[in-house]
Amino acid sequence: MTILVTGGLGYIGSHTVVELLQNNFQVIIVDDMSNSEKFILDNIEKIGGKRPVFFPFDLRRKELLSQVFDAYEIDGCIHFAAYKAVGESQEKPLDYYENNLFSLINVLQEFKARNISNFIFSSSCTVYGQADKQPIDENTLLKMPESSYGKTKQMGEEILKDYAIAYQKKVSLLRYFNPIGSHPTALLGELPIGVPNNLVPYVTQTASGIREKLSIWGNDYETPDGTAVRDYIYVVDLAKAHVKALQKLMNEKSETLIDVYNLGTGKGSSVLEVVEAFETANEVKVPYQICERRAGDITIAYANPDKAERELGWKADTSLEEALRTTWEWQKYLQTKN
Ligand code: NAD
Ligand code: WQD
Repeated sequence: MTILVTGGLGYIGSHTVVELLQNNFQVIIVDDMSNSEKFILDNIEKIGGKRPVFFPFDLRRKELLSQVFDAYEIDGCIHFAAYKAVGESQEKPLDYYENNLFSLINVLQEFKARNISNFIFSSSCTVYGQADKQPIDENTLLKMPESSYGKTKQMGEEILKDYAIAYQKKVSLLRYFNPIGSHPTALLGELPIGVPNNLVPYVTQTASGIREKLSIWGNDYETPDGTAVRDYIYVVDLAKAHVKALQKLMNEKSETLIDVYNLGTGKGSSVLEVVEAFETANEVKVPYQICERRAGDITIAYANPDKAERELGWKADTSLEEALRTTWEWQKYLQTKN
């Protein structure tokens, strides 16, 4: 089976490509390297034992995309390619709508034209906004996200539902909670470009001295220690869920299918708990200061991941500390590279 992985050199994509290779899928990557680097391809090969076919172009270039489909018989797609910075999406909404939606539509047009099914979409817990109750299951009402980025995820889901119904296709919408960590080999991880917005890259860079101090955005939330709570999922566990979701789509007899899964651990951790777990796992200190709340942040979000366990036979079982240990190894690897 040959799988197109868009954004396959990115953070979650690269880990998923390794899992696909280890499960004997052929992989074709399209990635324009707008948020990734070529050495990741070499590292994927080192871990996975095979070099995926790689095309470095922007998915908005329809003619190039069409040529890939002409050249290879593709059986499915995992679509990671998107811009993902929440704050930047507020400053450049058109760039986000254009990239995230047109890239998706272009791949779907090829799928429709060539009658290919099996499409997996990287969605996000951001589609739930501040849910009325925790943990969040898949039936929870979706609220309009605050950011343009979040809206592209909600719109992407709607496009895929219409597409699946109109053209009798199988799709899987995977709503990730907060992915963290790196590959145990320390050869893959999240590439920090500029000042990180996300918690774990900021913690890691603070521990290594690149940043002076972590700012904890608010300790007056209604949570046990006052800091906000999220569901941090280890990226390798997350990558494995994609293989399971793909296998389920491929084995499904019905022509039309819309699967929706929350991918999280089911456990909420506060910002302070993450800092402490990082310090314990790596025996390093993370200096921090308490600041005002960050605009747009919600108090608490963690998944009910039971549906994924029941239907995919998948469960995230790596501990927070273990995930944070791999992050630190990746940081050290990046420093040896520079
Ligand atoms: P990433 O930026 O590391 O990976 C995305 C990859 O897509 C990058 O390598 C980038 O170069 C590529 N890309 C972007 N636009 C492209 C285009 N037009 N054509 C070709 N390649 C393009 O991001 P990630 O963290 O691996 O996220 C992967 C997906 O998961 C995204 O869709 C993101 O929105 C979603 N997601 C991420 C998180 C998270 O916290 N990391 C959480 C929920 C959902
Ligand atoms: C986690 C917690 C911050 C940085 C974002 C996107 C979401 C999804 C995952 C893609 C919050 C606190 C953070 C810092 C802090 N991505 N924090 N100091 O906001 O839950 O979700 O990534 O789909 O759409 O919005 O993740 O890592 O930014 O923050 O105190 O320097 O850490 O306030 O409580 P978030 P995050």
